[in-house]
This record gives sequence, structure tokens and C-alpha cells, in this order.
Amino acid sequence: MNFQIKSFLEYQETYQKSVTNPEAFWAEMAENFVWRKKWDEVLNWNFKDPKIEWFSGAKLNITENCIDRHLADKGDQPAIIWEANDPQEHHRILTYKQLHQKVNLFANVLKNNGVKKGDRICIYMPMVPELAIAVLACARIGAIHSVVFGGFSAQSIADRIKDAQCEMVITADGGFRGAKDIPLKNVIDDALVQCPSVKTVIVLTRTRTPISMIKGRDKWWEDEIKKVETLGLIDCEPEIMDAEDKLFILYTSGSTGKPKGVVHTCAGYMVYAAYTFQNVFQYQPKDIYFCTADIGWITGHSYIIYGPLAQGATTLMFEGVPTYPDAGRFWDIVDKFKVNILYTAPTAIRSLMQSGLDYVKDKDLSSLKVLGSVGEPINEEAWNWYNENIGKGNCPIVDTWWQTETGGIMISPIAGVTKTKPCYATLPLPGIQIELVDEKGQVIEGNDVSGNLCIKFPWPGMIRTTYGDHERCLQTYFATYENKYFTGDGCLRDEDGYYRITGRVDDVINVSGHRIGTAEVENAINMFTDVVESAVVGYPHEIKGQGIYAYVILNDHTEDEELTRKDIAMTVSRIIGAIARPDKIQFVKGLPKTRSGKIMRRILRKIAEGDVSNLGDTSTLLDPSVVEQIKNEKL
Ligand code: WT7
Repeated sequence: MNFQIKSFLEYQETYQKSVTNPEAFWAEMAENFVWRKKWDEVLNWNFKDPKIEWFSGAKLNITENCIDRHLADKGDQPAIIWEANDPQEHHRILTYKQLHQKVNLFANVLKNNGVKKGDRICIYMPMVPELAIAVLACARIGAIHSVVFGGFSAQSIADRIKDAQCEMVITADGGFRGAKDIPLKNVIDDALVQCPSVKTVIVLTRTRTPISMIKGRDKWWEDEIKKVETLGLIDCEPEIMDAEDKLFILYTSGSTGKPKGVVHTCAGYMVYAAYTFQNVFQYQPKDIYFCTADIGWITGHSYIIYGPLAQGATTLMFEGVPTYPDAGRFWDIVDKFKVNILYTAPTAIRSLMQSGLDYVKDKDLSSLKVLGSVGEPINEEAWNWYNENIGKGNCPIVDTWWQTETGGIMISPIAGVTKTKPCYATLPLPGIQIELVDEKGQVIEGNDVSGNLCIKFPWPGMIRTTYGDHERCLQTYFATYENKYFTGDGCLRDEDGYYRITGRVDDVINVSGHRIGTAEVENAINMFTDVVESAVVGYPHEIKGQGIYAYVILNDHTEDEELTRKDIAMTVSRIIGAIARPDKIQFVKGLPKTRSGKIMRRILRKIAEGDVSNLGDTSTLLDPSVVEQIKNEKL
């Protein structure tokens, strides 16, 4: 593969080329893939509908690019290395040949169960190789996967299944995460009470937890594999897909109460995920690459599965959590497999940093060459700790900024090529045309400025639509500023032209690198019987980056505040999932509102942040006394 940038000068030249003639640039990059038919047109777009088409007319299957094309020269090379939650359990290695066999067999299982191109399949699985196999098997036959993170509740899964009208669910009896067993199939059973569209559930055996298997609907993964083997259905010809056929849906939160199904399509996403993987991490043949994300998030889609496999890399998948059995687990894994590239999240770094250096000191980390960070702004202390104690000052840190909607990394150093700076995502990758704008949409030129981060030109990995509701895609991303994609992030450009992401400027909280809409949490809190009204904001949290702070008005005075807090937290876990549980719940008599009834979140945010000295303009408040009460009783 020859699209790897090797020097800063080359980066600058490539960037210039990519913005002067984006179509020629991406067409050249796309030559590095296997196409059944080449494109008629590289790009066809407008941000008004929006309409985004890359490589239209082209035909391909992404799994041919991620698997088949590597068989000849890398068939026996590990494609996936899997490390179990329990360090005593043996790890597994799947070579490209083995991955090919397993994906083909399971693709035949899907077909044998009536799945066709375009059908939606919900995947709710633990981090085991079969999750990657299920994803790739969907892609092989052109079924659209919708992976739901294992931490979401039955209600959240049901909402996502109904939104996409999924025909099938692929799950496991349970999953191991640290010291806990997650009862995945039980959660699915609860979800499916609301989901008549689901005809079949395939269940992988993992934990051996007792589960119910419903006749006619539920089938064991292992039995289904045997069935297709018996039928001699071993190989599965890849479905030939159009460039713009849907590849997957991934739900993400926004400012409103309802998660959006972000849609990515086959060709552009593939080219972008692979191109960015190769360049940002500077992957070299035989490198062991370890991304600690969960496949339930976009990072896992683009940088555990599609990007690395498209490049014939060895990708390491870890089932467990950073702190189990102790806070040295990541370093044990790096040591055990001689990991060369490690890609993780600031929240993990901060938590391991807090556990102290005892967990790092006897581990051999000398194999590491490149360190990555993703999901939220990385604070200077964590950046330095990562650099000194993990990279030993020898590994470039790539602080990668991107989003579920962007499909791949957008602003990031290129390892060893771009000079890094703590807390800075640094410079846009080739093809990415950034603009900072003010509230009115005026473009802010020059350096040493800050504004709202927008992208003014399409890139191949960008969102195409929000599933089932194209208007929502338009309104959310393309309507705030005319003719630009708006990211929802604030950003500054320093005197060197380097970019630093300052955080969300909308009503979204970033908790441990996971995006959570305040409206969603409020809706969940409001479902609790005694709650009249609530307002949720983020506040700085030492480990999670941001924590969830909820102001709640109760119907009646509660006897036991602590118990009521627990009940409310439990309600949120039930409705959304444990990831959305408020960290702090303050009971209040009223919320600061304008005369027109709008909650003044700015004030609530300031109080939650502990910055009450200057609450800004409070002259429009309906009842200033509520602010006094909230301030005085702050948690
Ligand atoms: C939001 C996207 C992209 C995969 C993980 C999260 C924040 C992401 C960084 C970074 C500062 C970052 C932004 C963005 N974010 N990476 N390197 N520095 N902030 O995906 O759930 O779609 O969230 O995460 O606020 O908008 P996501």
C-alpha cells in the first residue's frame, strides 16, 4: 500500500494537493483497493440536502478488501489476536485464512436464516472474535449492521431496533467484563418484548449463564454453524455492493432526546478508515496494533475492524477492562504480545495514572512505537504521564480528533511526522478542510483564534444520512451554518496554526469518551415517579473528563434523600444504561428560568463546575432566589 506519508514536507504537499483537487487526490488513494468495478464519478455533493456520493458507480465488497485480498501473501499472518477478560484463559489468534473461513461460514448462517442484502441486523455482543466475525459476515452479504454497546439497557436496545426495523439480533448468553458477568441475552429478551420486527436471534455461547431460548426464534451460534457445514455451505461469495450502499448504522446521542442512527456507506468509509489508519499510526508490516475501544463505538468499527484489516494489519482485541485483575492489565497485554501501537482513551489513562506507577514498573513496554488518544480532550497531566511512563519519551502521541459522524480521524498528528504538542490534535489530515466560525457563522481567519469547528468540504468517510430521517441529518449537521458541516465542538487555532479541541458547545456531555445527550438523561430522570422536572449538565470529573450533574425537582419532600438518589440513578440505568447514571443529584425547589420558561443551563453549568463568582447576566431570570438556593445547597 503506497499512500503512507513519510515526512512533514510530504504531509504539507499532500495536504495542498488534497484541497486543490480533492477528487484527483481521493481517486489516487482509492487505487489502493480492490474494486469489482471502478467509479464513474469521484464526488457528487451538496450540503443543502445534504447529498454526499463518493465513488458512485463503483462496485466492491469491503470484506474482499479486509480479508480476501490478503490471503495470498498474509494468509498465515494473525489478523485478530484476542485476549480474554480473564488472564488465565488462553488467548486466541485468527490468521487471515482462519478469519476468512469463519466469516464465510457465518455469512452462510445469516443467509441460511433468510438474511438478504439491505436487511438490518442488531449486534449486541461481548468483545470476542465472534463480534468481529458477525460484523464482517453482515458486510459480506450486504446486510446493514447496527452494533449496540453492551452497556446499553433493554429500553435503549429496543429503541434502536425499532428505529432501524432490524430483522435479526446477534448476541451471546452473556459477557465477561472485569469481575462482572453481563447478562446479554436476558437484556435482549426484555428488549424484544417491544420489537416484532425481529424474527431470529442468534446466541453465541460465552458465559454459560442460564438463559431462555425461545422456540422458533432463538438459535445457538454453534448449532447454526454446524448446520451450514453439514450443508456444505463453506465459502460465501461476497455480495457485490454499490459504493453508496449502506454498510452500517451506529447510534449516537445529540442535543435532542432521541439517538440518531448515523449511516456510513461502503466505498468512502472504507477508503477513509484505511487511509487514516495507515497514516496516523504509521503502521508497518508485522506491527501489533492494539486499540482498547469497544466495537460498540465508532472507534472499534473504524480502528479495530475495518481500517486495520483493510491494511492487512494485526489487530488486537481485548475483552476486559483496564483495571482487571489489576490496573496493570494494559501493560501486561503490551508486554505479552509486544504491542507496537497502542490506541486508548484519556479516561483510561487518567484512571491508570491514579493507580500509580507500581503497575507499570516491571512491565516491558519497549515494543511500543506509537501511542494514540481518542474520545475527549486529553489534559496536559495525562498527556505527560502517558508520554513519560508509557512511551518513555520515545513514542509520538497522536491525539486524534474525530466523531461517529466523520467515520475516521480528522485532526491528528501523523506519528513521527507531525511535531506534537500536549493537548493539541494539531493539524487536519489530507482532504480535511477546516473552518472556525463565530456564532453568526462568520469565518474566523488567522491564528490565535477560537470558534465553532466546521468542515467546509466533503471527505469520503463522512455521514451520509441519519437512518430513516434524512431531514434530521440536515438539521443537525448542515443547517446551523450554511454550506458547512458543523461538528458541535469548540476549537482554538493557536499561533502555529495548531488545533486544540475545547469540548462540546451543544447540550452533549462527554463522559469517559462517550457522548451522552443531556436531554436523554433528563427524559430518563423524569420517568421516575416523584420527579417533577430536571436539568442535567456536565461538570469536570477527575477520571471521566466530564461527570453528569442533575438538578431535580421532586413532587414532595422525600424522607430519605440518599435512597431517592439511588432510585433515580437506577431509573436512568434502566432507561438508558449504567453509562448515563448521574454522578451527582441535587434536589432543588426550582430551576433558573427565563420569563419565557427556558432553563438557563449556563447558570447551572457554572454552579456545577463550582464557579459561582461570576454567573454572567442573570437579569432575565424569572426568579433569582432559586439560584441562591441552588448555590447554597450545591453538592
Ligand atoms: C466527540 C465525538 C471519535 C471516537 C470517539 C468518540 C470528542 C473525540 C477527541 C479528541 C477532544 C475529542 C469531541 C467529538 N472527541 N476525540 N481527540 N480531543 N475531543 O466518538 O462518541 O462520536 O464523540 O468526542 O467532542 O465531537 P463520539
